[in-house]
Amino acid sequence: MLEVEPVIHNPVMPEEVILFLITNKKGLYVDATTGTGGHSKRILEALDSQGRLLSIDRDPLALSVAGSRCKDDRQILLKGRFSELGEIIHRNYQGEVDGVLFDLGVSMFQLKSPKRGFSFTSPERLDMRMDTEQGLDAYEVVNSYTEQALEELIRNYGEEPKSKRIARAIVERRKRKAIEYCSELSDLISSITGFHGRTHPATRTFQALRMEVNGEIKELRAGLEGALRGLKRGGRLCVISYHSLEDREVKKLFRESERASIVKIMTKKPIRPSEEEIRHNRASRSAKMRICERL
Ligand SMILES: C[S@@+](CC[C@H](N)C(=O)[O-])C[C@H]1O[C@@H](n2cnc3c(N)ncnc32)[C@H](O)[C@@H]1O
Repeated sequence: MLEVEPVIHNPVMPEEVILFLITNKKGLYVDATTGTGGHSKRILEALDSQGRLLSIDRDPLALSVAGSRCKDDRQILLKGRFSELGEIIHRNYQGEVDGVLFDLGVSMFQLKSPKRGFSFTSPERLDMRMDTEQGLDAYEVVNSYTEQALEELIRNYGEEPKSKRIARAIVERRKRKAIEYCSELSDLISSITGFHGRTHPATRTFQALRMEVNGEIKELRAGLEGALRGLKRGGRLCVISYHSLEDREVKKLFRESERASIVKIMTKKPIRPSEEEIRHNRASRSAKMRICERL
C-alpha cells in the first residue's frame, strides 16, 4: 500500500513511440516497462476496440498505480521480468505480437517514492530494488561485496574513473559501521572525490549499484531476445535507453539480428526527444530510441 500520493512518471517521446510502434490498430502489443502506465495509456488510446495490450513490469507497486490509472478491459497487467518475456508472450499471445516497447531505466515513481532508496540525496536506507519482493538490495551489495567486486562493478556499470578510490573508501568505512543510508554513501563519495561541475559525484556509483541490484544488463539482453522471438513478421521492437551501456547492448543486438536476417533496423541513427520535450521534462534529455522490424 502506498502511504502518499504516487509520483507519476512522464512518458518520454510518447508521440514518436505511437508513430513507430503501432502498425495495426487491431494488433497485440506489449509494454515491457509499464511503470505508472504513461506509455500504456497512449498505446491503448491509439488502438481500436479489438486491439490488446499486455502491460508488464517487475515493480508491483508501480503496476498497481498503472492499474488504477488505466482501467481498460483490452489490457492485461502482469508482474514479470524481461528475462521471462519470451515465455510470457508465448503463453499469452502464442508468440505473435505486433509490437514490444521497452522504456529502460528507473521511473520517477521509483526515484521519488519514499522508502525505495534510489536517490543519493535521500536519508533512506540503501535499497534500489525495482522488484520490492526480491532479496538482493543495495545495502547488501555495499556492505558485503569484496573491495574488488565493488571496484569492478563501479567501473563497469558506472564508468566511474575513480572506482578504485571509492571501493577502498566504502570498505574502510564499513569496517567501523555498516553503511546504511543513501545520503551516508553519497556524502562519503563526495568527501573523497570532491564536487566538480553540475553532476553529483555519486551519480555514477549509484547507477552502478542500481544496475547490479537489478541485474539490468543481463535482464536487458534476455528481454530483447525474448521480445524478438515473440514478434510476428512486420512486428516492431522499440527501445528507449538512457545511458551508453544500455544503448550499446541495444545497438549490438539489433546489428547481430540484422546480420542474421531476423530484423531490419528502422533507425540508422537513434531518435532523440525534441528541444521542447527536454525543456518540459529534463529526465528525457539523454533518451535514445531505436526501432527494428521483424523480417
Ligand atoms: C522508465 S520506467 C518506465 C516508465 C513508463 N514507460 C511510463 O510511461 O510510466 C522503467 C520501468 O521498467 C521497469 N523495469 C526495469 N527493468 C525491468 C525488468 N528487467 N523487468 C521488468 N520491468 C523492468 C522498472 O521497474 C520501471 O518501472
